[in-house]
Amino acid sequence: MYYCFGCKAGGTVIQFVMEAEHMDFGEAVRYLADKVHMPLPKQVDAAREAQERSRRETILALNRKAALWFHERLYAPEGARALAYLHGRGLDDAAIRMFGLGAAPAGWDALTRRLTEEGAEPQALVAAGLSVEKGGKRFDMFRDRVMFPIVSAHGAVLGFGGRMMGDGQPKYLNTADTPAFNKRLNVYAANLLRKSRGLRRVLLVEGYMDVVSLTRHGVEGAAATLGTALTPDQARLLKRYAPEVWVAYDGDDAGQNAILKALDVLASLDIPARVLVIPDGMDPDEFIRARGREAFEAIAPLSAPLYRMQRARSGLDLSTEDGRAQYAIACAAILRGVRQPVEVENLLKRLMVETGYSRDVLVRQMGAAAPEKPAYTPPPRREKLPEAQTPLLSDALKAERTLLALLSAGLIGAETVDAASFSPGPSRQIAEALLRGERPAALLERCEDEDMRRTMLAVFSEDTRVREDEALRVAADCLEQMRRGWIEERIRTLTADLSNAQGHDKLMILQEIKALGDEKSRLRTGRKE
Ligand code: UTP
Ligand code: MN
Repeated sequence: MYYCFGCKAGGTVIQFVMEAEHMDFGEAVRYLADKVHMPLPKQVDAAREAQERSRRETILALNRKAALWFHERLYAPEGARALAYLHGRGLDDAAIRMFGLGAAPAGWDALTRRLTEEGAEPQALVAAGLSVEKGGKRFDMFRDRVMFPIVSAHGAVLGFGGRMMGDGQPKYLNTADTPAFNKRLNVYAANLLRKSRGLRRVLLVEGYMDVVSLTRHGVEGAAATLGTALTPDQARLLKRYAPEVWVAYDGDDAGQNAILKALDVLASLDIPARVLVIPDGMDPDEFIRARGREAFEAIAPLSAPLYRMQRARSGLDLSTEDGRAQYAIACAAILRGVRQPVEVENLLKRLMVETGYSRDVLVRQMGAAAPEKPAYTPPPRREKLPEAQTPLLSDALKAERTLLALLSAGLIGAETVDAASFSPGPSRQIAEALLRGERPAALLERCEDEDMRRTMLAVFSEDTRVREDEALRVAADCLEQMRRGWIEERIRTLTADLSNAQGHDKLMILQEIKALGDEKSRLRTGRKE
C-alpha cells in the first residue's frame, strides 16, 4: 500500500502501479503478476462477456493481418505509387516502418479475398470495418489509399485511417467504431507515447501526418485525435504520459478555434496545458518540413490564459477606447479562471500596459458580474477530498488503530483478539474482515465508502514500529486501553440511567458500576506492575 501524508492520496499497490506506470487496472494487475511470477486466475466470465471478447479479439486479429498486408503492399509493385507518395512527403523507410504505414491497392477486393482465403468469416471482415457489403458482394473498405494503422497503447491494431493520394473526398477515410474500437477513447500513436519515458509534455496535433512527420524529425511525444474534437477520455489518456499537454493544432482558423475547445476540455480536468501557435497558418508537418526541427522547438509555448487573451484581442482595435474596453472586459473574464496568483499578476501587468486601465479597475472588472456571454467560463474546480479527519483521538481509539495496524501487518495472530473488543463502526468492520483472513490490500481495493477507506488508509499506513517479539505485549496494552475506554463509556451510560431507576434495578446498576470501577482499577495496577 501507499499513502501520502501530505495530500492523503493513497491506495493499494495496484492503484500505485496504475499511477506510476500509466496503466489501467488490468495492465497493472498483469504487470504485478508478471513481476512476482504469479499466474493470473482465469476469469469466470458470463457467457456473453466471453463472446464479446472473442468478437473483439477476432476483429483485432483481422486488423493485425490487414496492417501487415498493407505494409507489405507498399514494397510490392502495386504499392509503388503509395511509397512514392510517402517518400514525397518527406518520410523515410524508418518512419514508415515505425508507424507501420501501408498501401491499400487500387482494385476492388484484394484484401477481402486474401483474408477470406485465409479463413476469415466475411461477417467478421465487415464487423472489423475492413470490408463493405453491397448487393450481396463484399468489397474492400480501403482502396487506393495510403494506410495509417491506429495502434493502441498495448500494441493492438484498432483501426485505420486511409489517405487519398490525390485530391478528392474524403481526404481521410477512417474505420468506423467497431466492438474493438472507439475513436473517442483512443488517440493516434498511443503505442509510441507509452514507450517514451520522462516526457515533459504530450504534443497534441490534429493530423496523423503531423504525428508521423514530427516523430520522423525527432520530436517526441506527438499524438492526435482520430478525426474528432478532443474528448475528456482522450485528455485523461494523454495525461497519463506527461505532466502537461501542449496543443499544436493547425495555424488556420479552424485549428485555432479547435484549440479553445481543447483548452476547455483540458481545463475542466485540471490538466496543465499550453499552446504552440504554428506561424503562417501552417500545420506542424508543413512547418517542420519547411523550417526544421530547431525552428519548431524554438516556438515558445503560450500559457492557456495568455493564448486566450491573444485570441480575445484579434478583431479588436486597441487604438480605440472601445476596443480597449472590450478587450479588458474579455480578459478580466479569462483572468477570473486563473488559479495561480503570480500568473494572474503577470497577466494583469500585461493587460495594464495593453489597455491603459489601472490595476484597481481591472481587478474590479475581474470581480464584476460575468458578461452575458463570457469569453471563457472558468472550469469547476475539481473537488478536493475533504481534509482527512484528524480530531484528537481518544486513547482508546488510538489503541484500536494500533491494534488493527498490528493485525494488518501480520505482527499478531487472529487468535489474539476478538472483533467484539472493537468499538462498533469502521474499526469493528475492519477488524472483522482482518480476522476473517482478508488482506488489507483487498479490503482497500473493494472499499467504496470514503470514510471507511480513509480509516483503512490511516490504519494500514500506521507506522507500528514494533519488533515482532514486542508485538504481543503492545497488543495486550492496546486491549487494556480499549477495555478501559469501554468501561468508562459504560459507566457514563449507567450513571445516566441511575436517575430514572428504582428499587431493584437501581441496586443492579450500582452493583455493575462498582464492579466496573473495580475492574478499571485492577487494570491500572496491572499496568503499573
Ligand atoms: P487535415 O485536413 O488537417 O489533414 O486533417 P492533415 O493532417 O494536414 O493531412 P495531410 O497533411 O493533408 O495529409 C486533420 C485530421 O482530421 C481528420 C484526420 O484524422 C486528419 O489527420 N480528417 C481529415 C478526417 O478524418 N477525414 C478527412 O476527410 C479529413
Ligand atoms: Mn497536413
